[in-house]
Amino acid sequence: MSAKLKTSVPPRWRKEVQSILITDEQLARRVKILAREIERDFRGREMVVVSLLSGTVMFLADLIRHLNLPLRLDFIGVSSYGLGTESGELVFTKELRIDVRGRDVLLVDDILDTGKTLSRVVPKLRLLKPRRIKTCVLLNKAARRVEKIQADYVGFEIPDHFVIGYGLDFAERYRNLPFVGVLRPHIYKEVSQHVCKK
Ligand code: IMP
Ligand code: MG
Repeated sequence: MSAKLKTSVPPRWRKEVQSILITDEQLARRVKILAREIERDFRGREMVVVSLLSGTVMFLADLIRHLNLPLRLDFIGVSSYGLGTESGELVFTKELRIDVRGRDVLLVDDILDTGKTLSRVVPKLRLLKPRRIKTCVLLNKAARRVEKIQADYVGFEIPDHFVIGYGLDFAERYRNLPFVGVLRPHIYKEVSQHVCKK
């Protein structure tokens, strides 16, 4: 198969997805390498993986399958009630249940964008007195950063496009796409206008 064929958007999604930014093969390869890096740093110590709902689903499932060390898994629900592609006020929809006091925590999110989410979640986790917190994101959109925060592990650096797929959504849709793609701007512009008019 030619490289062009491999990276062309499947016909079903062409009206909504402009291009494929990261293919399923590139995702699989990078996630494996990321897991090796994390494994090396944690040196076999048991970790608590804390994942932010819901964008991490696919990344998390792939990542932890490659982590050869003992771990426990928990989730924090956090939603940003903004319009369109802009993040708004953060609301916690599910609290952590596992006690992380004295534990090594790996905090996983889908994408580090403005940094507002992680810069609120990390201090909240710190109050629970873990031994250490390491942060891991699949994607880093550094151009949009507002808060002074970096992730310890980053899958891919990406340019300033609104992306969907491999767990990432726009208005809860497109999470099921097996690749990371760029959403056509008219899709989110239409939705924002619709919401604003109401
Ligand atoms: P931040 O708080 O601005 O860093 O954004 C973090 C959250 O916003 C992520 O967990 C995503 O849910 C969402 N987000 C930011 N950029 C994108 C994007 O390009 N596509 C999909 N979701 C995004
Ligand atoms: Mg989201």
